[in-house]
Amino acid sequence: MEREGLFFYGSDNKNMGHTYIENISDFVNEEVEIRGWVYNKRSSGKIRFLMVRDGTGIIQGVATEDDTEPESFSVLEDLNQESSVIVKGKVREDSRAPIGYELTIGSVEVVGDSKDYPITPKSHGTDFLLGNRHLWIRSSKQWAILRIRAEVIKSIEDYLWEKGFLRFDAPIFTPSACEGTTTLFEVDYFGEPAYLSQSGQLYCEATAAAFGKVYCFGPAFRAEKSKTRRHLTEFWQVEPEMAFAHLDDSIELASGMIDYIIKRVLDNRKRELEVLERDLSPLEAVKLPYPRIKYEDAVKKVNELGESMNPGDDFGAPQETVLGNSYDSPLVVTHFPKEIKAFYMRKEPGNEDSTLSFDILAPEGYGEIVGGGEREFEESKLNKEIKERGLPEDAFKWYLDLRKYGSVPHAGFGLGVERTIAWICGISHIRQTIPFPRTLGRAYP
Ligand code: 4AD
Ligand code: MG
Repeated sequence: MEREGLFFYGSDNKNMGHTYIENISDFVNEEVEIRGWVYNKRSSGKIRFLMVRDGTGIIQGVATEDDTEPESFSVLEDLNQESSVIVKGKVREDSRAPIGYELTIGSVEVVGDSKDYPITPKSHGTDFLLGNRHLWIRSSKQWAILRIRAEVIKSIEDYLWEKGFLRFDAPIFTPSACEGTTTLFEVDYFGEPAYLSQSGQLYCEATAAAFGKVYCFGPAFRAEKSKTRRHLTEFWQVEPEMAFAHLDDSIELASGMIDYIIKRVLDNRKRELEVLERDLSPLEAVKLPYPRIKYEDAVKKVNELGESMNPGDDFGAPQETVLGNSYDSPLVVTHFPKEIKAFYMRKEPGNEDSTLSFDILAPEGYGEIVGGGEREFEESKLNKEIKERGLPEDAFKWYLDLRKYGSVPHAGFGLGVERTIAWICGISHIRQTIPFPRTLGRAYP
């Protein structure tokens, strides 16, 4: 194997000149080189223990005067938490070790020291941790959550590609609001106002007419002015859109996607779920087809469950929580009133007050993770809605063109990545599900 600097440009990730901890089982009784950071250390009599993390896992190394170079043995004494190190040693199987393997340390070389690392093993307040998010992501729970995030994103991509969807990303600077004007972030676009995208949907509708089945996947921005456990000002959304499709097609696609994500995380990220002490049984209990309820009946049910709400009201967090809590699988709520949904929703045939819309509420009180439905594809009806809502007609001219030139029934949805991850990980606040959360009052680091 050839080495170039610190990296080996090989065809696999097993041994890029050094060994990754996740592959350690391939190297039992062999000498390996681990490159990582000091996670923890302790000594007991004449033995020194070093926990090293390399991003793929954590391994314990054991140093003794017999096995370890004398200079390294004394280096171990003064190592600081999060110093970067190159550790050489021999892999041993050990059933008592959390990962089943330990390292007999031959030598330790410090690459970069780390004096007074701010995040110590004692507990810290959330504000302090968020202010040190650039370092906090090295901690084991954050590591587990963000590895699950990567798996969720990959499984979404795989699911849609397997189903023949093409990815076309939507712009971030937009001329108009997709999801209502109250949460718009306005920016100065060379002297003209532009808005950070709340959703790529309108652009997905254009690409669906060009390519059939499409999706966009990117950040969405909403100036959410309240502090909640479920809202970020910058979050990630995957938005599939299908031409020649209806409400049911969209519900089926969304339910299948959620199911696929859960199975993939259960298959590939068990260890991370363990780190989070996630009870797996609620995730394993999720089963297709998901239960469905119409908005009207959902309102009745919410009141029966002891949370009051009036017909016509939107669900708030308490209502979504009691509703979702009463099912083992995600709950599909359909046919929301027009007043509480966006301008583009297609009306229910024969009932112009109701829309062909749906939300999916996660179990265990996690609330809405998906919103979607069928789009108004008749030009006159869409035009009327834009006028009635006082929306800027100029900005939607291009969007109305889609209804002028070969309009077809079409449907889609948006799945919020962070809320989905929060549910899967079983954590209470979505700010931990994104590497660098943006919330009301925090855009640092
Ligand atoms: O329900 P929403 O607003 O729907 C749309 O944006 C549609 N245009 C999607 C579509 O049909 N293509 O948002 C979709 C999802 C929500 O269900 C939720 O999971 C997530 O995006 N979401 C948020 N996540 C975190 N923070 C926020 N402020 C969020 N707002 C919405
Ligand atoms: Mg919604």
